[in-house]
Amino acid sequence: MECLDMTKVEEILKAYPQNETSLIMVLQDIHDTFHYLPCDALKKVAQELQVPFSKVFSVTTFYKAFSLNPKGKKIIRVCLGTACHIRGGSEIIQEFERQLGILRSQTTQNQEFTLETVNCVGACAMAPVVVVNEEYHRSVTTIKVKDILKGEKNED
Ligand code: FES
Repeated sequence: MECLDMTKVEEILKAYPQNETSLIMVLQDIHDTFHYLPCDALKKVAQELQVPFSKVFSVTTFYKAFSLNPKGKKIIRVCLGTACHIRGGSEIIQEFERQLGILRSQTTQNQEFTLETVNCVGACAMAPVVVVNEEYHRSVTTIKVKDILKGEKNED
């Protein structure tokens, strides 16, 4: 397991006023940096901004965009909304699970990929849709899953 680079947390904290008004902005920057909110970072934020830890924790659970678990560099979102579901969305998520060796909501051990499901990404005409970070893949089939993963690995 990797140790948390606390200097990055300290740099983020230094960029904002040291009080509660900075809480959400600080948490957003930490999330952008680590792709999740590590517990040690939350403790440091509570201490430096003089906010009770319980308050910091409740903010992290209130905002859906925040994750308390490590996420992969690439977030794969398989749409399971109605239009995508009837065109094979369930088979596609199963194929991603099979090829990555993880279940939905999990992250690969090398922290490369996190697999998630969503209920419509507003592109029903392109169903079934898979979104990798910000990139949309249209009319995905189980055969294309391998190509999507290969393309993403080659980007690194
Ligand atoms: S249901 Fe998948 S994009 Fe709308």
